[in-house]
Amino acid sequence: MEKKASHFSGQLGFVLAAAGSAVGVGNLWRFPYLAAKDGGGLFLIVYLALVLTFGFTLLVSDIAIGRRTKQSAVGAYTQMHPRWKFLGVLTFLVPVLIMTYYAVIGGWVTKYAIIYLTGASEAAAADNYFTGFITSPVSPVIYALIFMGVTALIVYNGVQDGIEAVSKWMMPVLLVLVAVIAVYSLTLQHTDESGQFRTGLEGLQYYLTPHVEGLTVSRFLQILLDAMSQLFFSLSVSMGIMITYGSYVKPDVNLNRSVSQIELFDTGVALLAGAMIIPAVYVFSGVEGMSAGPSLMFVSLPKVFAAMGKAGVFIGLLFFVAAMFATLTSCISVLESITANCMEVLHTDRKKTVVTLSVIYLAASAVIALGYSLFYFEVSLPNGSTGQLLDVMDYISNSVMMPFISLLSTILIGWVTTPAFVIEEMESSGHPFRRKKIYVVMIRYIAPVMMFILFLQSTGILS
Ligand code: PHE
Repeated sequence: MEKKASHFSGQLGFVLAAAGSAVGVGNLWRFPYLAAKDGGGLFLIVYLALVLTFGFTLLVSDIAIGRRTKQSAVGAYTQMHPRWKFLGVLTFLVPVLIMTYYAVIGGWVTKYAIIYLTGASEAAAADNYFTGFITSPVSPVIYALIFMGVTALIVYNGVQDGIEAVSKWMMPVLLVLVAVIAVYSLTLQHTDESGQFRTGLEGLQYYLTPHVEGLTVSRFLQILLDAMSQLFFSLSVSMGIMITYGSYVKPDVNLNRSVSQIELFDTGVALLAGAMIIPAVYVFSGVEGMSAGPSLMFVSLPKVFAAMGKAGVFIGLLFFVAAMFATLTSCISVLESITANCMEVLHTDRKKTVVTLSVIYLAASAVIALGYSLFYFEVSLPNGSTGQLLDVMDYISNSVMMPFISLLSTILIGWVTTPAFVIEEMESSGHPFRRKKIYVVMIRYIAPVMMFILFLQSTGILS
């Protein structure tokens, strides 16, 4: 194996690129929804406790494996134990699947950013605007292709000149944008037709107060599972992305501090997203107005922005630009992970690999973008929801494969290579691994059990 030429310039470049991967639509359209649904502050407490134990364990494992083996998922797992190569291949398949639809979502976000930029936002607040847009056979395809093309161009430019260069300015700007909108949300007030007066601060209070009235054991378990699946999707773990990014980290970088900073960035943006979205939705439509996923971002929020009047056009623009940065830096990490695996397995160079992958994924993105028009179908998924093409890809990768991969990798590290494999790497730069004890208990005992339950629940076996 030739020596790996690609590296992040240092800790900051690595942390911002990894945070770029972690901060995505999950922070913006799923975290606030779950917080509103799962008891406000109660969800926040559960989530924070899990970030520091469970999320920490998975993130440490991925990054340390990457840096120690200097390989992406396929090579890394093979090097850890030749018999576990299958786990590397399975892990590699997650970004392979996600890549088919992530640029489609990125295209939607781009379309909305342009709507707000050109001042056409009133139309976007109309009923059925979003449905009209995604069921068109032309426009969503064009936007998906543009988004895919930009992603490929950045990855083509390499780790330092592409990924790091972009993340280094987009992530700080994103943080500022989200913070500005959150502050604005808190100043909102509105009286609706029925004379009901609501303020942003009341919305904030609803978000932060732990609602424990009528809490049952099974409801608490549900909240725990929601927080857990959100967490590992949000940290981009168990899909090989953090293994790839870890493989680009120089040996002198303190991984302990890097991991804390990535967790802080990802969780910080999630918390701010809640403070920006929940009060705004609360003021104009009460908390019943909170929906999840695309409908929150593309249906409810445009209505909220419209209700803000003139300021709403500007706030909407800031929001969709922030969302575009979040989606782009995540999309880059997905393509990078696929690229790195292919380069290692096939011994090809970056430029050729990216060009080939671009052709494949431009076609795939177009197909998925047409999943609401030309290729429309509906299937009932085992977890009880109904979905189209995009949801099927999402379900297989996130609800089935990711918990399964996490489960197997905790067994591999906890019992086959033993946690020393990771601990030695965490300490290799000469810095102490402070949370070593928690790590060992989590990786050997608690995480495997939790992942097993999550797997049963998210696949619909346990319901
Ligand atoms: N972590 C991202 C989020 O929270 C999601 C993501 C998925 C990123 C897949 C990269 C790859 O939205």
